[in-house]
Amino acid sequence: MSDPELRIGLFGRGRLAAAIVEAAQSAGTPLAWQVGRDEVPGGPADVAIDASVAGAVEAHLDWALATGTDLVIGTTGWSMPGLGARVGGRIGVLSASNFSLAVALMARLATVLGRFAALDPARDPYLFEHHHRLKADAPSGTAKTLAAALLAGCPRKTEWTLGPAEPHQLSVGVLRAGAEFGTHTVGLDAPAEVVELTHRARSRAPFAEGALGAARWLRGRKGCFTMDDLAREVLDPLFNFGGTP
Ligand SMILES: NC(=O)c1ccc[n+]([C@@H]2O[C@H](COP(=O)([O-])OP(=O)(O)OC[C@H]3O[C@@H](n4cnc5c(N)ncnc54)[C@H](OP(=O)(O)O)[C@@H]3O)[C@@H](O)[C@H]2O)c1
Repeated sequence: MSDPELRIGLFGRGRLAAAIVEAAQSAGTPLAWQVGRDEVPGGPADVAIDASVAGAVEAHLDWALATGTDLVIGTTGWSMPGLGARVGGRIGVLSASNFSLAVALMARLATVLGRFAALDPARDPYLFEHHHRLKADAPSGTAKTLAAALLAGCPRKTEWTLGPAEPHQLSVGVLRAGAEFGTHTVGLDAPAEVVELTHRARSRAPFAEGALGAARWLRGRKGCFTMDDLAREVLDPLFNFGGTP
């Protein structure tokens, strides 16, 4: 969707940032500025997108608060206790480990899968992810989001762990090899059957286009949001099986 009125700034000059630049050009939404390490934003923006490194996110949030600029955080591997209180109602902040709407759908289905596993202890849920060999964090932010969604549906599983798991843990598998953009599988292994749901990105385009969509959605909103807030409008009607529109 073209929106020449929206001024977008971009933190980062890596792979995701390059895909966002390309998507912005295709959408007719030129970037106001793009900065890398040790560079300073060159002017105002309505929304800034962070596609950098975990260690830089806090400084970018401080910049956004100081300048009153809404901030979309796509960078993963960071945590900031008290983020909501820090942001207050001063600006809008949307953080997303994955900007794909299909992954937001998968998170909801992961909760349903968890609920199905909760009905029978013999149904053992699991999660697996594969990314390119240069990805810094493991498991991926998306894997953590999907794990949280699955755990929310299955009370006997209280946390995730890498590799071998205790009965109360969800086993998560991680592979780092090659050039894979990102594959995530949530599954359920039962004695006589297996259910698996896989999302595979064919390029960074869904993340880049999703980041621009998130920037458009966030503009003018105040407070902290996630992709789920954005996706709710589209996804909620898909889970209505009651026959009423
Ligand atoms: N939300 C999503 O949908 C999604 C999708 C894909 C990736 N991601 C996440 O996005 C982040 C970036 O991924 P990537 O593959 O693009 O990584 P990348 O190729 O390593 O790019 C990171 C870039 O950030 C730069 N940088 C470092 N410090 C900075 C600073 N203080 N200010 C601005 N830029 C700085 C790095 O510069 P130097 O090279 O000089 O260090 C590098 O150009 C990762 O956390 C990744 O997990 C999210």
